Amino acid sequence: MILVVPKETAPAERRVALVPDAVRALSQSGLEIAVEAGAGLEAGFEDEAFESAGARLERDRGALLRSAELLVCVQPPREAEQGEGLRAGATLIGFLRPLDRPELASRLASAGLTAFAVQLIPRITRAQAMDALSSQSNIAGYRAVLLAAAALPRLFPMLVTAAGTISPSRVFVIGAGVAGLQAIATARRLGAVVEAYDVRPAVREQVESLGARFVEVDVEAGEAEDKGGYARAQSEEFYARQRALMGERAAAADVVITTALVPGRAAPRLLDEDAVRGMKRGSVVVDLAAEQGGNCALTRADETVSAHGVTILGPTDLPSQAAFHASQTYARNLVNLLQHLVKEGRLEMDLEDEITRGALLCHEGKIVAEAVRARLDAAPGAA
Ligand code: NAI
Repeated sequence: MILVVPKETAPAERRVALVPDAVRALSQSGLEIAVEAGAGLEAGFEDEAFESAGARLERDRGALLRSAELLVCVQPPREAEQGEGLRAGATLIGFLRPLDRPELASRLASAGLTAFAVQLIPRITRAQAMDALSSQSNIAGYRAVLLAAAALPRLFPMLVTAAGTISPSRVFVIGAGVAGLQAIATARRLGAVVEAYDVRPAVREQVESLGARFVEVDVEAGEAEDKGGYARAQSEEFYARQRALMGERAAAADVVITTALVPGRAAPRLLDEDAVRGMKRGSVVVDLAAEQGGNCALTRADETVSAHGVTILGPTDLPSQAAFHASQTYARNLVNLLQHLVKEGRLEMDLEDEITRGALLCHEGKIVAEAVRARLDAAPGAA
């Protein structure tokens, strides 16, 4: 079976779906692997390294895509966006944005492709090693802290010097999922004093075990967690109360890192303009929810906003900024997923299997993922 790795075409995307070590592992599973020339360069992987690992290099992108029986990508290739370039029956695996761009799933289904969206892989223990959302969020959480530290006119650690004592910066992390927990750990390593809040009370222990204080919000949340472990959306009344409390904590912080997401919805608005106005001059907000509309009212995706003396960053490409390790960990996720799907060099899909069925976006001309079908039914124009 021919597995193809194209060069990414999305703007500013520096990652590559497979790295040479992953090619080596998959070649042993009986797959024939073709990599587009230059695909790994921006992530730090030379063409020769792919060749030595057993891949065939292909310079002709059109020929590469037409030859694909399996294609792995980070973001959907531009040809797949247009529903062309790949032959019907081919299988596509990547970050296919099932919930925020369900119309893409329709296009892939109409083109006769089978597609797996890595975002749909269930968050179960058995699938942890395939969990690409986690591997990339982890990197985003780390980079967010470095961005904040670089933009802040203060230092993170407490320093006792001959020129006086510097008190540590205070970091407030809103949303303690994978990215938030890594942000807490990174900020602590840099010496900051860290507080964190999450609507799911279950994370309190994890926050505290990283040396941060869990902020108590004396507002009764509705049921906070769904059966997949994700946050549930809350009432507008809850969010209004929460915003007031987040504003208070933000006023005491030098850096606020927001990571709060509810799958398939716009990001909850947790810092309004008044909260930003209440922050200290020179403070920094890094909003990791920028792509989903932002947790902060003033965030603009991929822009630096200066308002009321506060710098607000809304980067959407943090994993891509650390393209080497982001590619390495994503490739490891894909190897694990492919080893689950491929038997003796052939794709063998067990549609009864929770992981296979969970990640399957479309197959045989139909959209399989129920959450995606529901979105399209709710907004039929999107198809
Ligand atoms: P996410 O990226 O969907 O959301 C980030 C965080 O924002 C979550 O912790 C969520 O509770 C929080 N949030 C949502 N609304 C909020 C609000 N109004 N105020 C404050 N915080 C709010 O979450 P992520 O990081 O993808 O993790 C989702 C869940 O999956 C977690 O329970 C995590 O522990 C679990 N998980 C399980 C894995 C496994 O067993 N394979 C692997 C990774 C994560």
